[in-house]
Order: sequence, then structure tokens, then C-alpha cells
Amino acid sequence: MNKIHPNRLYLEEYRTKKHKYAKDGFFTSLTRIHKWSAIIHFILKITGLADKGLANAQNLQLTRTTVELENLPENFDNCRILFISDFHIEGLESIPDNIIRLIENLEYDYCMLGGDYNHYNMMHMPTAKQRMKKIVEHLKCNGIYGILGNHDYYEIGVFLQSIGVTMLINEHITIERNGQTIYLAGLDDCYIFDSADIGRATKHIPSDAFKILLCHSPQIYKQALKYGFNLQLSGHTHAGQICLPGGIAIFKGVNIPRKIVKGLWNYKNLTGYTSSGVGSSGNVTARFFCLPEIALLTLKTKK
Ligand SMILES: [Fe+2]
Repeated sequence: MNKIHPNRLYLEEYRTKKHKYAKDGFFTSLTRIHKWSAIIHFILKITGLADKGLANAQNLQLTRTTVELENLPENFDNCRILFISDFHIEGLESIPDNIIRLIENLEYDYCMLGGDYNHYNMMHMPTAKQRMKKIVEHLKCNGIYGILGNHDYYEIGVFLQSIGVTMLINEHITIERNGQTIYLAGLDDCYIFDSADIGRATKHIPSDAFKILLCHSPQIYKQALKYGFNLQLSGHTHAGQICLPGGIAIFKGVNIPRKIVKGLWNYKNLTGYTSSGVGSSGNVTARFFCLPEIALLTLKTKK
């Protein structure tokens, strides 16, 4: 696990006084649910929809997706990745038990954690650690890998590493399966902390290797393509969290094309999956037309 990035170090110290949203223009900031929390709370209260929104936020789903990939080494055909993102774990007490219930009898080869374990500030870190430990203890597979999100403190990354999660902070590892190898690179946050370093993370990865990128915000997709990644796994958007009928996101969370806000997507030669996340953000513990998910991804070699 790499040391804390200087940008993250500065902003983590600063964030309790003032959140700095890097690279946010006026329009982009309006796509964030945080900006609208007070108004959303008021609307849910006067319309009586708060209970329904909370029930939706607790209705965690296991989704299953087949991901067809060119150049996937044949020994990784049918390899299963359990992808869990955006825990915001202090926000809802029921999340650990809901996750454990869904994965109890589930078979998967690797687990990847997409960041945003923390929700509140450092005062709530003991709760975050306790709940994340409970979840990690129930993950049974060949390897657990994680990255940091824009809500996270570096300290939660150190803690996860200490309990068996391989944290990838602008670095990569190799995964071997019956003599064949793929590369998994993980980035630090590119949304608020501006501490993602894709060049560092990909240093010494052979150009013709099969590469998976784990990055909290999907906004990195153009760079992921440029660096030759085959698959990008992201979260951050919560798929909108508060959506219109049909799952149309009102708040995309970041200025990205609508097609990469949720689920499986393609951008030229890059395939991506953006998780809807398990938790809720913006101090609005509610979801509409957009249920929380943990995603079981089955990789398939595209014939
Ligand atoms: Fe999040």
C-alpha cells in the first residue's frame, strides 16, 4: 500500500473545516446530491415519501452481469468478481447484515471494493472500522482488493489492509490463474482529492497485458482507455440515488456521459461497470427508482 498522496494529506486535514471539490464548475456542482440535501429532506417530509425512500435504501440487491471481454486470457473465462462499492457504512446500521445475508452462500473468485467506506467525519471512524471488519470477515475468496473513494480517510485504507484487504493506492498487482496472468491497478481518488496517478499505477505493466482498473469515480474513463485498460470498475454515482421513473438519474455525481452512470457500459475499446453502490450519500438516506446493489460480475472471453 503506497503512502498517503500529498494532495490527500492536505485535504484530509482541511476537510473538516471546508470541503473542497476539485475541478467542479457551477453546473457540475449542481449534479451533486449534497447541494440539494436540505430541499430533498423537506420534500420527502411533506410528501410522506421519507419512509418509502428509506425502505428502498435498505433494499439491497444482488445483481448478476456477464461481462464479455476481448483478449481475456482463457483461464480467466468464467472468473467471478464480487464488486461492492460506496458503503457509506456509518449511514445505515443495516448494511453489514444485508451484505452478509446476500453473500452467505455465494461463490466468487475475487472481491473488489470500490471505496467510500466512510460517510461521516473522523469521529465516526470506530463505527466504520467495526462495520467494515464484520463485512470483510465474511468475504471468502482468493483475494480481496480495495481502493479509496472521495469520502474516505487514508486511515480506513490502512485499517482494511491490516485485516486482509490488498489496498491499491496508485499501484498494481498481478493475479495468476492456472499459469496465466492479468494485471489489476487501483487508483486513489480523482474526484475530490485529486490524488489519482494512473501513470504511477501502470508503471511496468506490459502494454499487451490484460488490465483491470479499479477507480472510485468513473470520470477517469478516457485516461483508462488511453492507458490500454480492458475493464474499468467504478462506483461513486450511486446510479443517481434519487432518480426519475425508469432509473433516470437527476444527480449523476460527476460530469460524465449518462451511459456510464450505472451498470455495464462501453467506451470505444474499454468496457466498464459502474456500481449503484450499497449506501446512501448526501445525508439523504433515501433512494427512488434506483436500488442499492452488490454486483457479481462473470468475466467471459469474447469469441
Ligand atoms: Fe459514494
